[in-house]
Amino acid sequence: MRYINNMRKMKKYLLWFANENIEFRRPEIDSLLALMNIKMKFLQEPQNSEPFWIVQFESEDDVKKLAERSVSLKMCLELWAYAETTTKLHDILKSYQKSFYESHIATEQSFKIKVETFCKHFTQKEKVEKIEQFNYLPVEGTVKLKDPDVCLQYIEYYGTIPTKVPDEPYYVFFGKWITDGLRQLIQTLSLKSRKFIGNTSMDPELSLLMANQAQIKNGDMVLDPFVGSGSLLIAAAQFGGYVIGTDINYLMLHGKTKPSRIKQKVREINESIKANMEQYKIGHRYLDVLVNDFSCSFWRDDVKFDAIITDPPYGIREATERVGTEKENYIVSEEHLSTHIPSKVEYGISRIYGDLISFSLKHLKLGGRLVCWFPIFRETYTEDGLPSHPCLKLVANSEQVLSKLTSRRLLTFEKIEEPTPGSKINIQNILDFREKYFETREETRSEKRIREAELRNQNRIKYLNKK
Ligand SMILES: C[S@@+](CC[C@H](N)C(=O)[O-])C[C@H]1O[C@@H](n2cnc3c(N)ncnc32)[C@H](O)[C@@H]1O
Repeated sequence: MRYINNMRKMKKYLLWFANENIEFRRPEIDSLLALMNIKMKFLQEPQNSEPFWIVQFESEDDVKKLAERSVSLKMCLELWAYAETTTKLHDILKSYQKSFYESHIATEQSFKIKVETFCKHFTQKEKVEKIEQFNYLPVEGTVKLKDPDVCLQYIEYYGTIPTKVPDEPYYVFFGKWITDGLRQLIQTLSLKSRKFIGNTSMDPELSLLMANQAQIKNGDMVLDPFVGSGSLLIAAAQFGGYVIGTDINYLMLHGKTKPSRIKQKVREINESIKANMEQYKIGHRYLDVLVNDFSCSFWRDDVKFDAIITDPPYGIREATERVGTEKENYIVSEEHLSTHIPSKVEYGISRIYGDLISFSLKHLKLGGRLVCWFPIFRETYTEDGLPSHPCLKLVANSEQVLSKLTSRRLLTFEKIEEPTPGSKINIQNILDFREKYFETREETRSEKRIREAELRNQNRIKYLNKK
């Protein structure tokens, strides 16, 4: 009964989302609502193709808390009215009592009306004409175009297909602007201005989405076991995580790999993950990065993490290797031990994900999350081909398309139980992505040139031998 009463008290809001990474929108908001214990109710079932949701929250504080963390969310309005035509919208707004407006805008507050049109361009003059249609609003404060106390917003939505824009909008909305989402942070963390990046640095939007999927909160211990240039640590630290990473590549962790920027010939002296953290003023959240082959874990059994976020190697842009040898009974002699550089063998994709699941079962706190990318072939993909274990519940699975044939999926697992000894990890159906990728990939022009030159060479040798 109390819940029903609370629902009645709930206000109506319009959440407006960025029109990208659409599949990640719902999982991100669900993760944040659960993390912050916020109740949200849909007033209209959301459609993937539409960048807005019409919802209810118990308080404006809840909306603001959600928006402060959401990367998918562009902005949020307290929704006063919405309709399928402009005439209907104006009728609804005209039908409200004066007391409605007085309770939403105080007489002494300055205001402005802003017009936004989605998927159709209008000139400033046309926008002013649209604003003038709201002259009947019984709002008493003064109009102030720069920094008003209240910003009222009118939105016309013409769909998302630029080649199929209708004459009249599909929907129109009117309300009071409440807050923007966290999209500004994507610019702040841009790879273009980041001190240290590598070839496989994750873009800031996806990194932040991953940190939200992992439900990082202040004081969490977060690990990336395939840390590379540390992009995921930056996102986790932004949300209060204490971050630590490991990687097999010594040169990467010491900022000594070949520079990734086209115009840069040599790396600067202090390029490192730590320097990035300091650039973003989150150096105090950085614990360390350590050189380690993930297949040989060095952690004490009782070390526990709140979250593990990672992008393991797929063997396309970076090698999938682990320390090992094909030789039998191989022993390094005492005299060579100090200078010995271990040999490496292929670290197959199913073994990588088997190790990741097994590590998470052991080192994640109960309720903690593992968030990782998983490469797939789109045509043959089924959920059966994902790694799994009964104690790790798959709570989200969103696709980022990479090409016509391939994509990667962001998997979010939550540890729901401690595993019993001997319980089995399911990695049987994992496809060898790397092998299939190189089998099906179209030859590039330079590879074709090399292959044809080699063929010509072989034919010439054959010809000379015959002579
Ligand atoms: C896709 S990259 C990670 C990129 C990273 N998210 C970033 O933003 O730079 C995968 C990383 O896994 C590392 N790696 C490959 N094999 C490994 C192993 N056996 N143990 C630990 N790290 C490994 C690679 O050196 C590479 O840096």
